[in-house]
Amino acid sequence: DWNMEDVMEEEIKTIKALVGPEDHVICALSGGVDSTVAATLVHKAIGDRLHCIFVDNGLLRYKERERVMETFETDLHLPVTCVDATKQFLGNLKGIVDPETKRKIIGREFISIFDMFAQDLEHKLGKRPNFLVQGTLYPDIIESCPPPGSGRTHSHTIKSHHNVGGLPKDMKLKLIEPLKLLFKDEVRELGKILNVPQGFLKRHPFPGPGLAVRVLGDVTEGNALEILRQVDEIFIQSIKDAGLYDSIWQAFAVFLPIKSVGVQGDKRTHSHVVALRAVTSQDGMTADWYNFEHKFLDDVARKICNSVRGVNRVVQDITSKPPSTIEWE
Ligand code: XMP
Repeated sequence: DWNMEDVMEEEIKTIKALVGPEDHVICALSGGVDSTVAATLVHKAIGDRLHCIFVDNGLLRYKERERVMETFETDLHLPVTCVDATKQFLGNLKGIVDPETKRKIIGREFISIFDMFAQDLEHKLGKRPNFLVQGTLYPDIIESCPPPGSGRTHSHTIKSHHNVGGLPKDMKLKLIEPLKLLFKDEVRELGKILNVPQGFLKRHPFPGPGLAVRVLGDVTEGNALEILRQVDEIFIQSIKDAGLYDSIWQAFAVFLPIKSVGVQGDKRTHSHVVALRAVTSQDGMTADWYNFEHKFLDDVARKICNSVRGVNRVVQDITSKPPSTIEWE
């Protein structure tokens, strides 16, 4: 068991020694715990020679951009540029239904935005940023044996590193990975010392490709994304209100590209079906579906059909991983 105060002081020393007084550092914030804690730590070490970017790819959850920008700016005082790339991402995803193709396009567009950000900075600063911060964790880097000298003796499950597509090969950025010897719970502890709000540190994981892997089929079809955002928000808020959020690894809604017949008021409807998924897990490698109480599910389903236009049916995903994956695409 490491003392996180010591880990923080050590890391700050290391970063200060590594990054010279003329050097500049960039970091892509995802809105997740790891990149946020990594950036906050680096900011503490080198101040505003850190330059962060947050990309709104049009695939974010309800009010996600406002919520995370508020945390970055107001709570953490991080220097963040928010780029609205909604049109670019959704334009390129139009008509695409194959899950792997969607992921590839998103990775590619992300790299192009990141490249532009680096170029803009080069203009502004008169020199190219030469370091990159990544929120890589210990389980991301080890295979079965820990790196020599790391002090780690655990053998831990491998998790394939599937963040948004990697980064431009020709950028020649040196990596700063201040969390690479830590487990998730240690990162949360470090975040707490760094004043990252507690609610933020407990957020469920969210995939890099965002809602694109939760709208099955063409994400630009009709108002699928808007419907999904509303349904997801009701589901998550209900989970929080019931005090269940912290007992669940991940919960979310999925938009299905089918319609079914319903009756609402005195009218027949032909509307969309949404699925709810909630799982418990240790590390995302395996997962069990979460068994809500009857009343909770009944309330959520009613609320969704009563308040989200275009939805007349709610189903629950009752498969574990394996055989299913956590996400649907
Ligand atoms: P699956 O669906 O493979 O997901 O059972 C396991 C965990 O990984 C998350 N996930 C991703 N995270 N980029 C990410 O950063 C991705 O492309 C991605 N795909 C899945 C998923 O939300 C779950 O927590």
